[in-house]
Amino acid sequence: MTDTPLYLHIARQLQARLDSGEWPPGSRLPAVRQLAAEHGVNTLTALAAYRYLEEQQRVVARPRSGFFAALPRHVAEHRHATLPGPTAAALVDVDSRMSNLIRLSASSTRQQLHMAEAHHSLYPAQELSRRMQMRLARQPELIGAYLPTADQQQLYQQIRRLAAGWQLDIPAEHILFTQGITEAISLSLRHLTRPGDVVAVETPVYFGLLQTLQTLGLKALEIPCTPDAGLSLEALEFALRHGAPVKCLVTVTNFQNPTGALMPDDNKKRLLQLARRHGLTIIEDDVFGELYFGNQHPAPLKAWDRDGDVIYCSSFTKSFAPAFRLGWLSGGRHHAALERLRESSSLVSPAILLAVLSEMLASGDYARISQRIRQQLKQQMEQLSDAVLDAFPRGTRVRRPQGGMLLWVEGPEGLDSQALLEAALSRSISFAPGLVFSAEPRFGHCLRINCGQPWSTQLAEDIHLLGWLAAEQLAGRQ
Ligand SMILES: Cc1ncc(COP(=O)(O)O)c(C=O)c1O
Repeated sequence: MTDTPLYLHIARQLQARLDSGEWPPGSRLPAVRQLAAEHGVNTLTALAAYRYLEEQQRVVARPRSGFFAALPRHVAEHRHATLPGPTAAALVDVDSRMSNLIRLSASSTRQQLHMAEAHHSLYPAQELSRRMQMRLARQPELIGAYLPTADQQQLYQQIRRLAAGWQLDIPAEHILFTQGITEAISLSLRHLTRPGDVVAVETPVYFGLLQTLQTLGLKALEIPCTPDAGLSLEALEFALRHGAPVKCLVTVTNFQNPTGALMPDDNKKRLLQLARRHGLTIIEDDVFGELYFGNQHPAPLKAWDRDGDVIYCSSFTKSFAPAFRLGWLSGGRHHAALERLRESSSLVSPAILLAVLSEMLASGDYARISQRIRQQLKQQMEQLSDAVLDAFPRGTRVRRPQGGMLLWVEGPEGLDSQALLEAALSRSISFAPGLVFSAEPRFGHCLRINCGQPWSTQLAEDIHLLGWLAAEQLAGRQ
């Protein structure tokens, strides 16, 4: 008897049958119960086997229909599984890799692709400076700390109208501005948890969240998240039923960082029901929601939240003016407590910046500018995805996101993206290596590339070089 868990044995058998062509792409796989009966195991073990294969993108889950053999990828793939199911919650101990990555921004690295940021030329610097100057001249009291009440009310109504376009119905008095979404999330965590509590997060997960958890002394329970469907609800349910008590969940439902996953509406509704059943509060991070490539901002989870269980967090840091650091939250039944916490944290957001935002919303300029950013990012994402698929070695996979600014690249088995980063840095190119997206040693073969840079011959060459470096590494020549 080996130490290999039972579900992994079953997954490997299924994988061999998939490889043999027994189930052509798109065909329905045995129901979970049937699989469980075939192997003499319980349904949770059978489900874990399917979830594992889902992580490997060998099977696809369709809500209420079951599991299906995945379609072949653009780039051929043959690799062993490396992603485990949910593991035990652990205190987050983020090592220096993450801080080192952030420090790269201040370095002289020529081609910086490691952060989630769009090039400054995408944002309306001239327009903002003109408006700010005029507004201050007209209303000098804005240099004071607090936004005058009438202006404040107007801004909240504008945010309310903006959010209504995402099917979100929030009262104006339930809008609270914060220092970026980072403060919104950290206030929410401070309100909901005490040191040592368990917080469910996606895996892979945005490394900034891991840093926040670490600072607050919280344990992260990492729940698998796939580029196709986002957070695995089955894995979450499994953890809620069988694991330690979970205080809250932090999830990026729209264009998750780093996978780019968009959670389907059905899953959003099911997640809310699941949370309700287990008394779980959700902190929804919708930082990328406005950067949709389709026709509209996908509805956030909060759109279906009738009981105030979801703390919805949003931000203008990606879609309007990153340096303004204008985030906001709508706290549902936690709102009043969050308002109090915010007062003792950063008190208020800069009045002049809020006033300029309000003008941009009122004039329709915000709509126009965010539309332009979306179009640009969509195009850049296409170019980047094509270039990666073209340049990276056989076995590399990408799933083109439907929004956001991040491309998650799953390299072939054996790729060491940390070593690749070192090789790339020596050529003055950066990206985010997979290891920074988990508190566990996972995703070492993956990398995240920012698509916020305008496409250029130089960028095309750099992506080509990255692919070549990856191939050289795999061939053992580096
Ligand atoms: C998922 C996610 N949440 C939060 C943040 C931080 O956002 P902000 O700059 O609004 O604090 C980022 C930044 O990239 C992010 O990717």
